[in-house]
Amino acid sequence: MSRTYLVTGAASGIGQATAERLRSQGDRVIGADLHDADIQVDLSTAAGREELIARAGELSGGSLDGVAAIAGLAAPIAATVAVNYFGAIGTLVGARPLLATSPAPRAVAVSSISSLQPADTALVELMLAGDEAGALALAEVLAAGADAHQIYASSKQALSRWLRRTAASADWAGAGIALNGVGPGVVITPMTRDLMATPESVAALLEMVPMPLNGPVEPEKVADLLCWLLGEGNSHVTGQIVFIDGGYDALTRSDTVW
Ligand SMILES: NC(=O)c1ccc[n+]([C@@H]2O[C@H](COP(=O)([O-])OP(=O)(O)OC[C@H]3O[C@@H](n4cnc5c(N)ncnc54)[C@H](O)[C@@H]3O)[C@@H](O)[C@H]2O)c1
Repeated sequence: MSRTYLVTGAASGIGQATAERLRSQGDRVIGADLHDADIQVDLSTAAGREELIARAGELSGGSLDGVAAIAGLAAPIAATVAVNYFGAIGTLVGARPLLATSPAPRAVAVSSISSLQPADTALVELMLAGDEAGALALAEVLAAGADAHQIYASSKQALSRWLRRTAASADWAGAGIALNGVGPGVVITPMTRDLMATPESVAALLEMVPMPLNGPVEPEKVADLLCWLLGEGNSHVTGQIVFIDGGYDALTRSDTVW
């Protein structure tokens, strides 16, 4: 039976590929993004997140079968914290009541292998505490210094940890809602276009982020995984960050996690 999904970041890259795949299998997609989407909102703001949920409620008739929080930024700026963490959590938590009416509700977010890389502990803790003003103020300071690149890694570490903390709770697993993340390595999208402009820059990138199985991945492959996690067939996978990284996690963390 056709299902109804809310997909953020639907105008580009992984979000666009996910929306296209869901539509091609006969499902209905309500796309959200800054532009070129059914719901055009800025998820870096509280007002944008509120509008997202209000419009998703209207367009879906009050019920969603799945939510995919995919919108994100990679720039070393404070807005990355606002979109990647608070935007994603706002999407998932805001949509939860709409999901609760589905017979097979599923939610996913896109984290990253960057969640495993050096991050700013204080920034991660402010995000996990829900202190958006504090997190943005600290991110502004970091953005002006040598550790600005840690802003992205911090946003994704906090997102993955929130997913793990939340998935098995009464509001989610207890309400029958599967909640997972995926952790891609390098994905070939507009986000990485500049980093992958020449064979030399691709080689330099893969030295930093080795992906021994087949190298950088197409967004359609990430969409396949997201769609499985979002589908009715996923009755028991929850609280997982599924890495789709050509082996980066296995190579770098080896058997320190299992
Ligand atoms: N490309 C990669 O290598 C890679 C790797 C790991 C994780 N990711 C994550 O995957 C997700 C999708 O990235 P992508 O590679 O498809 O990038 P992309 O730039 O192609 O797409 C991101 C989309 O998010 C939207 N967006 C950005 N800020 C927004 C805002 N304030 N409000 C609403 N929408 C906003 C953009 O308009 C864009 O359409 C992101 O969360 C990113 O961090 C990407």
